[in-house]
Amino acid sequence: MSSLFRRLIDARGVAVAPSVLAADFARLEQEIRAVEAAGADCLHLDVMDGNFVPNITFGPLVVEAIARLTKLPLITHLMILNPGKYVEPFVEAGSGAVSFHWEAMPSGHEDVIEKIRRLGCDAGIAVNPDTPLAAVEHLLPAIDLLLVMTVFPGFGGQSFIPGALGKAAEAARARGARGLRFVIEVDGGIKPENARLVREAGAEIVVAGTAIFRSPDYAAAVAAIRA
Ligand code: DX5
Ligand code: ZN
Repeated sequence: MSSLFRRLIDARGVAVAPSVLAADFARLEQEIRAVEAAGADCLHLDVMDGNFVPNITFGPLVVEAIARLTKLPLITHLMILNPGKYVEPFVEAGSGAVSFHWEAMPSGHEDVIEKIRRLGCDAGIAVNPDTPLAAVEHLLPAIDLLLVMTVFPGFGGQSFIPGALGKAAEAARARGARGLRFVIEVDGGIKPENARLVREAGAEIVVAGTAIFRSPDYAAAVAAIRA
């Protein structure tokens, strides 16, 4: 398995992924250059369709524009229904990983994972705070990335749900026991104050939107989340 993000984590131990959702979109280029200079390891791009979640953000056009602005690997987090229909344009836009929600489709997750990987991209499955790990246990050998949500998807700036973090630790144990290699990403409500807890639970990619883009000092925020 040649996973881009596994190599990144093996090299760096932990990756901080600013969530672009919290950036000032009127100054997107400067915002991306600023988090890059601040030490971000990759970028997290939140795609919402107004159906799977009650909010709409952006599509492949913006992902492609961001890919032209930065060399940082891009994790596209699809919060959309019928993800299989749309993975190809998001891979082609320059995503390094495409993650979709287990809750977004009744069946056929394996096919979407395979499609993403066949297109040459890391494949991730995302789970809501109230979805047990058991729901995705059979998919763990096939994925490159497990995205554990610590808020219900739909909006940036929500409060961290500590009870969802046990799933990251549980996933880390299952990975060890089964000899798997997927990377664990945790997303939602992460701030310098709870980042240590998140890391200790096994998060290797730590996502933060408002904690970075709404802070006066991006480099200090990235460093505080990493430490
Ligand atoms: C929530 C998104 C998150 C969010 C993170 O639906 O998937 O990535 O933007 O933002 P903060 O860090 O502000 O919770
Ligand atoms: Zn996200």
